[in-house]
Amino acid sequence: MSETGKKYLENLLGQAVNSLGFSVSEIQISTPEEKFGDYATNVALVLAKQAKKNPQEVASQLVSKLNEIDVSKVFNEISSVGGFINFKLSAETLLHNLLEIHKTKNIYGSSQIGKGQKILVEYFQPNIAKPLHLGHLRTAIIGDSLFRLFKFSGFNPESDTHLGDWGTQFGLLLFSFKKYGNIGIVEKNPIDELNKLYVKINTEAETDPGVRELGKAEFVKLEAGDKENRDLWKKFKDWSWQEFEIIYKDLGVRRADHDWPESFFEDKMPAILVQLKSKGLLKESQGAQIVNLEEYNLGVAVLIKSDGGTTYLLRDLATLIFRKSQGFVKQYYVVDVRQSHTLKQTFKIVELMGEIILKEAVHVAYGFLTLPEGAMSTRKGTVVGAKEFIASVQQDALEIIKEKNPGLAEKESISQVVASGAIKYFDLSHNMKSDIVFDPKKAISFEGNTGPYLQYTHARIHGILRKVKDLGLKITVEQEFNFTHYKDEEMAVMRKLHQFPEIVEYATVELLPNVIANYLFELSHTFNGFYQAVPVIQETNEQLKSFRISLIIATAQVIKNGLNLLGIEAPEEM
Ligand code: ARG
Repeated sequence: MSETGKKYLENLLGQAVNSLGFSVSEIQISTPEEKFGDYATNVALVLAKQAKKNPQEVASQLVSKLNEIDVSKVFNEISSVGGFINFKLSAETLLHNLLEIHKTKNIYGSSQIGKGQKILVEYFQPNIAKPLHLGHLRTAIIGDSLFRLFKFSGFNPESDTHLGDWGTQFGLLLFSFKKYGNIGIVEKNPIDELNKLYVKINTEAETDPGVRELGKAEFVKLEAGDKENRDLWKKFKDWSWQEFEIIYKDLGVRRADHDWPESFFEDKMPAILVQLKSKGLLKESQGAQIVNLEEYNLGVAVLIKSDGGTTYLLRDLATLIFRKSQGFVKQYYVVDVRQSHTLKQTFKIVELMGEIILKEAVHVAYGFLTLPEGAMSTRKGTVVGAKEFIASVQQDALEIIKEKNPGLAEKESISQVVASGAIKYFDLSHNMKSDIVFDPKKAISFEGNTGPYLQYTHARIHGILRKVKDLGLKITVEQEFNFTHYKDEEMAVMRKLHQFPEIVEYATVELLPNVIANYLFELSHTFNGFYQAVPVIQETNEQLKSFRISLIIATAQVIKNGLNLLGIEAPEEM
């Protein structure tokens, strides 16, 4: 693909700056307000300051030079105001890009910036025998989207779940199960029943310390490979996976490539301790084994508790080092913000061990997702689990579909796609760092900045295309059109479409799926403005009709590609 965007401009500016005898270390290019153009730069201001010259004078000089060397006329207007230089892409450039979309289809917007680097994305790490909560939805949704962005941008990502299936709590659960559990009851509703058993034994342990000891003893037996305990634990795991399936199936999240749960690191922990000891990093403190990180302002990290039990953190050290040994040059942890401290400790210790440099491990932290009080949540606010939450949004989606499109054939399956689109988009359109309150009415609405709105815009275009087909219209879209004049609405859509590859790159590098979401909203909005103002099927000039159909097909394609990066399906009818 020939470069017609930022990269081309960078090059052009570099040439112009040099040939005027200036030099600059970095040229900043930004996106100005639409009326000014597609790109802007402040480089004239920077140079003027350096050379103690008048900025507008430097800008004018640059503008004439730029016009001279932009021989392929990528831009049709280069102008300056107040020292800023603005660039408007020419219609030829935009038309050429339109053709590019028709040629590259599903891969339009993809790139090779990742250079095939093997990276790991860890997301959706539930804990066995516990109900999924809304936080698990966020890690699944955000992680899945980042994975897709990486892949599309030429990285070679693989995913891991790092399932929580190890630790003393499973000793307590085993103890409780043996004492109170009834397999017939548990089997019918495993997660809830196991959770009840766990809560029950914890309450007991609060008043009777002996109970905790008995629980710990069960975990010791589990670690030692006791057959009965292993078999039960295995059952807990299988039951749990049955329930976790809902995230993969109903939400349409990609299945993890690797299943390296916490228990997988059981036999890998001793070596870590040996290594830490030999490096003089491991200290004994009140019967526990610790790494003191106070000089880094990270407190004390406990690896072995005073009772001899291993910790979550120790397993995390083993995990990071193991995954590195599998050839991953970078590891992304999609984990909620509360675990920021533990992860900082983990990364720091592994760095001190000389195993990684800090930028090889990245915590992608996200804030809380809560539900408003009322229909979807209990009086206290937020205790609805992920399963009930998804079911309730699916119900809402089905009702809307029934009302909007009573004749639609596959209402059930489409409403699942709409529900998962609504949930994912609501999550991903916000900056992941912020806490969000799910608004069921807003999220599922077919209007406004929502997933269903984007899905609907896409389906609507396909509706038009079905009509084109029914009318038996002969349309050639894969050609370079060339009219002398374009309507503003047409230009606006073409300009938006041209932005997509740069948006994808930015979202990938900055780890910001919300940039894709907001772009798609703007694109749909621009498209709807076009469609209201400009006739498509009704257009009588055949050439022009072809062009406009070409434009709407490209729009649908880009919406689909963008939604795909958010993990959202784009049905052709809804
Ligand atoms: N299972 C943990 C939880 O639900 C999250 C695991 C995060 N990943 C990690 N490598 N520590 O809280």
